[in-house]
Amino acid sequence: MILLDGKKISNEIKNTLKQEVMGLKSQSIEPCLAVILVGEDPASNTYVTSKAKACEQCGIKSLVYRLDANTTQSELLALINTLNYDDSVDGILVQLPLPKHINKDIILESINFSKDVDGFHPFNVGNLNLNLKGGFLPCTPLGVMKILEYYDIKLQGADVVVIGASNIVGRPMATLLLNANASVSVCHIYTKDLKAYTKNADIVVIAAGSPNLLKEDMVKEGVVVIDVGINRVDGKIIGDVDFENVSKKASYITPVPGGVGPMTIAMLLENTIKSAKNRINK
Ligand code: GUN
Repeated sequence: MILLDGKKISNEIKNTLKQEVMGLKSQSIEPCLAVILVGEDPASNTYVTSKAKACEQCGIKSLVYRLDANTTQSELLALINTLNYDDSVDGILVQLPLPKHINKDIILESINFSKDVDGFHPFNVGNLNLNLKGGFLPCTPLGVMKILEYYDIKLQGADVVVIGASNIVGRPMATLLLNANASVSVCHIYTKDLKAYTKNADIVVIAAGSPNLLKEDMVKEGVVVIDVGINRVDGKIIGDVDFENVSKKASYITPVPGGVGPMTIAMLLENTIKSAKNRINK
């Protein structure tokens, strides 16, 4: 069994990005990411802090807007509008989930798609689904693709099961894998017999938010397992996979933490720099 070391890959990527930022700065371009957090969700707060810290490590300027939980939708739209028109801002990220009184679809669509470093704007989602290049791809699924590529795990013709159908991970993950010529099944909360899918899979990507959902008897010998889950259980962070037992059968498996998580942030930095480079061609 080989551990898929997302931490190591993300560090390598961040070192490369650091050099690229220096190159951009020598052309008077300082890449800048604006991150907006509405409310005080503790997990979101941690993610936002990590994103800002990672930006600074690479020399990317970060603007963090921590807004009160009672912020109105119009106030949030006004801030996004200001950032959309600010030429010194390359990326705009609104941390999800948003409070219930704010319509996330309206918010995500209001972000200028050329600054949508999360890849959640319908324009970027459409480009991904049409397999058109050039748009922004969502950071977590893109990070998973980089891990698979780094370890030379073949996707063409592979039977892949994605567990979870969220807009943030499951759906774009399935599309990226399909675009890489894998045969993809998407399972979710209404799937009648999850094991019927997973037991034949060459690769399982799980983003269900359910600790220990994927068990040893559900996978075949030699399976590749990518665990996107982040669950806090008894003060410890664990994934969606019963790691201790599934790892005995897996050929490759991601640890949690240290697998997909660090890659998500590296991809966010990569997308921000990609956006900053677009300034050169303007
Ligand atoms: N909430 C959980 N994951 C993400 C993400 O990748 N981006 C944003 N904006 N919010 C999230």
